Amino acid sequence: MSEKRKLLRVLDGETIFPPPTWLMRQAGRYLPEYRATRKTAKDFLSLCYNPELAVEVTMQPIRRFGFDAAIMFSDILVIPDALNRNVHFVTGEGPKMDPINPAGIDALKTDNFLNHLTPVLETLKRLRIELPNETTLLGFCGAPWTVATYMIAGHGTPDQAPARLFAYEHEQAFNKLLDILADMSAQYLIAQIDAGADAVQIFDSWAGVLGEKEFEKYAVRPVKRIIDQVRAARPDAKIIAFAKGAGILLQNYRSQVGSDAIGLDWTVPVTFAKELQKQGAVQGNLDPMLMVAGGEALDKGVDRIMAELSDGPLIFNLGHGITPQADPENVTRLLKRIRGYQRG
Ligand code: CP3
Repeated sequence: MSEKRKLLRVLDGETIFPPPTWLMRQAGRYLPEYRATRKTAKDFLSLCYNPELAVEVTMQPIRRFGFDAAIMFSDILVIPDALNRNVHFVTGEGPKMDPINPAGIDALKTDNFLNHLTPVLETLKRLRIELPNETTLLGFCGAPWTVATYMIAGHGTPDQAPARLFAYEHEQAFNKLLDILADMSAQYLIAQIDAGADAVQIFDSWAGVLGEKEFEKYAVRPVKRIIDQVRAARPDAKIIAFAKGAGILLQNYRSQVGSDAIGLDWTVPVTFAKELQKQGAVQGNLDPMLMVAGGEALDKGVDRIMAELSDGPLIFNLGHGITPQADPENVTRLLKRIRGYQRG
């Protein structure tokens, strides 16, 4: 019988030493081989929807570094794209789409949704065949709030003021949008699990701009809605919820949404992380800038997390995605440090 993959054992609450490790955005522009493959695709979304190329870029960091998990190559904004919001990525400017208004929310068409995402599911099927048996395969989606921020503004913003304002001015339409996104995301995650994903991560990258009440309504409730639906359909589903910037509101987040693990950004104090780890697995939380800086600063950052969190259920990761400026050599150094760490 094949042994259960390490990361999945951690999601069950087991402590594994050294901890299984992967990095958010591990397939990306800091890798020369990614930049080379990216050039062969017409644009970023064409890369996401081309199973052959998407498998290739997913495999690149696995081949180079031997991470414990692979995350399928796609983007959270394929959901608005599948809802016909005219999504495109402009090099150097980030994502763009038609800003949605209340009438647009009423007119959203969901009939072609999963059909549009078939290539992503095909990528997962091929990855499960291609990956080493011990490597965990992760699927993902964006949380409704984070996806909605881009749909409302039509582009990225530093503080999501357009979406925060929209939620106050058009609360009913806004709730309808979040419900649609939650229901579609649940269907998408179930399809990912059926296509071979061992676990899925829900990225709420903009949770940190919400006030306390709004966090409850727009970050907790929709993510719980997704997880409830996924678990109703696939009771064994393994789920990581990452609410970036949520700070002290992470105290009850895991039990509120019902995830197996929670992701921690790099601002979460290690003492608080230890508290949260008593409730179950945590994932994080090294500052991505250390992958640019390298050297002793990187070693110290790794050692601190290892010293405080490696005696409980931990998935080692960054506190957010690795950036294009990161040096791949620093990833090698990071893995060596984690895997060679001696517990005192
Ligand atoms: O390796 C992996 O982690 C898998 C692939 C992945 C991408 N995006 C590829 C990508 C994943 C999991 C994402 C998630 C994602 N996408 C999030 C949530 C996580 C986070 O970073 O907060 C968000 C908010 C997005 C939306 C998005 N996609 C933005 C704002 C941008 C532009 C900014 C940027 O970093 O360029 C993207 C583009 C994107 N998604 C790239 C990659 C590799 C770079 C585009 C390129 O190659 O031209």
